[in-house]
Amino acid sequence: MELRRAIGDRRSIRFLLPHRPVELEKIQCMLEAARLASHWGNIGSLRALVIERDKASKEVVDALPSPVGGYQIQLAPVVIVWYLETEATEHAAARVRELVACGAVGYGDNKKEEVENSLVPIFEAMGDVVKAPGLNEVDCGQGIAQATLMAFELGLGTCCLGSGDPDGIRAKLGLPVSCRVLLTQTVGYPAEDPAAGGQRPRRDFEELFQLNAYDNPFPRSQKVVDDLKRDGMIQDPAPLPWREQELLYLRRALDLKGEGLL
Ligand SMILES: Cc1cc2nc3c(=O)[nH]c(=O)nc-3n(C[C@H](O)[C@H](O)[C@H](O)COP(=O)(O)O)c2cc1C
Repeated sequence: MELRRAIGDRRSIRFLLPHRPVELEKIQCMLEAARLASHWGNIGSLRALVIERDKASKEVVDALPSPVGGYQIQLAPVVIVWYLETEATEHAAARVRELVACGAVGYGDNKKEEVENSLVPIFEAMGDVVKAPGLNEVDCGQGIAQATLMAFELGLGTCCLGSGDPDGIRAKLGLPVSCRVLLTQTVGYPAEDPAAGGQRPRRDFEELFQLNAYDNPFPRSQKVVDDLKRDGMIQDPAPLPWREQELLYLRRALDLKGEGLL
């Protein structure tokens, strides 16, 4: 599938078919995509606990509350708990040596000493600072984004769900204290039309990006926008005219009472 089209068509899918299981092979494809994402220093701090709702205990399902849209967890055949292992940073020096050894970084094999004297000490000296929220979360976001696009390509719908109590979820799921729960992601076959009501609005491009100086908005070329519209990446913003009727239909079909619906 073409990347532009996939970026344009992907939506957060909140309404899933509760009765249709998701093949573990497809979940594996998501995880493989996450694993191949870029990580600072190649340390790879992203982890995931995959939960099959039908096989999970009530305690485990109950450990996955969502502040909004709790119905999503109840509908989803699979929930992925994405979390971060802060201890991964302790292997930073070894990981950077590995990057050098595979030829990624630009030091030749005969420069081993240079690497040991320059790059490695930097990574060894980083200590606990790099365990704090920041760069690692960016790492993980890259992986989750790749997994999300993979899910879309496989015909699955997903929605990321934040939590007001990530530490509570961590404890209830038995994850070590060195881990930070980032978010849960519901996965299943969509109950909604693939358009899911249309492309969700975003902030103005000029508000978001600058070129060369903070007070200089990045110039947005209309031609580029038109090309991306033609390719299906930029689409008309939601809602499509029939979205309200679709939501009504979904609530009835899935027996949702309306509480917390987004
Ligand atoms: C980190 C993260 C947390 C999110 N948390 C929630 C959530 O708790 N509940 C929810 O319904 N959607 C959640 N979303 C989905 C966003 O609200 C979604 O991106 C937004 O509706 C835009 O729609 P789109 O993803 O369809 O383009 C989250 C998304 C991200 C990336």
